[in-house]
Amino acid sequence: MRTGGQGERRRPWGRDHAGKQNTPARVAPAMTTPNTIGIIGAGHIGSQVARAVIAAGYDVVIANSRGPETLTDLVAELGPKARAATAEDAGTAGEVVVVTVPLHALDSIPVEPLAGKIVLDTNNYYYERDGRIDDLDQGETTTSQMLQEHLPTSKVVKAFNHIPFGDITTDTAPAGSPNRRALAVSSDFPEAVEFAVRLYDELGFDAVDVSPLSESWRVERDRPAYVVRQTAAELRENLAAANRLP
Ligand SMILES: NC(=O)c1ccc[n+]([C@@H]2O[C@H](COP(=O)([O-])OP(=O)(O)OC[C@H]3O[C@@H](n4cnc5c(N)ncnc54)[C@H](OP(=O)(O)O)[C@@H]3O)[C@@H](O)[C@H]2O)c1
Repeated sequence: MRTGGQGERRRPWGRDHAGKQNTPARVAPAMTTPNTIGIIGAGHIGSQVARAVIAAGYDVVIANSRGPETLTDLVAELGPKARAATAEDAGTAGEVVVVTVPLHALDSIPVEPLAGKIVLDTNNYYYERDGRIDDLDQGETTTSQMLQEHLPTSKVVKAFNHIPFGDITTDTAPAGSPNRRALAVSSDFPEAVEFAVRLYDELGFDAVDVSPLSESWRVERDRPAYVVRQTAAELRENLAAANRLP
């Protein structure tokens, strides 16, 4: 039997972080602002997140699977605030790290360099690309819980997984703008939620919190909130309408 959706328990999905007008429901410990973001994965999303966070003032250390020498053109385009590295080095250099690789590559993400750090997880499950993963097919885990298990001492937060890569730098607006696009965050760690919400706001997005990670299926592929443009109110509705299995 399918679970979730209209008939299941109705939590007010999710907590509203639209603009800066609402106070987060959970009290998160204060965190300092990182200067350097490590990005593991330099494809559509990795390169676009790099463009966005560099424009917001961060430094970036970015990696792919083939080695830094293959990222010369991207780094030249990104400018002096970016450098290419191995995944290990990008993980070490980043005070916060973005993991944005195909799901089938999660096991190769270096663990030790990411220990204790906030890790933004953009990953989605495409069985056509990643192969069948029974626990996902049966609704027994989520993609972000898989990364959290792989990185047991990191603070994984699902982010940027339900926006087409091009929109990250184009569909942005200042806080408080009517019709501002909203993106979901989900984590087992309040400080990771706090960071992602703040980063979204800096880049031009509202945020809706669908924590903990065990609830992050609500924003996975083929759910109503997946890759559609939505405001915070619309995103909350779509999260509430999601079924546990698509
Ligand atoms: N495309 C979108 O609009 C979008 C939107 C939201 C979420 N996502 C999800 O975000 C993730 C990334 O998507 P994408 O579209 O950016 O993929 P992509 O364009 O195929 O890029 C994947 C990147 O990951 C790198 N990579 C693969 N294995 C690696 C490893 N073991 N270590 C380090 N880097 C590795 C690849 O490097 P090489 O090229 O050197 O192999 C490449 O730079 C996926 O899970 C995707 O489903 C995508």
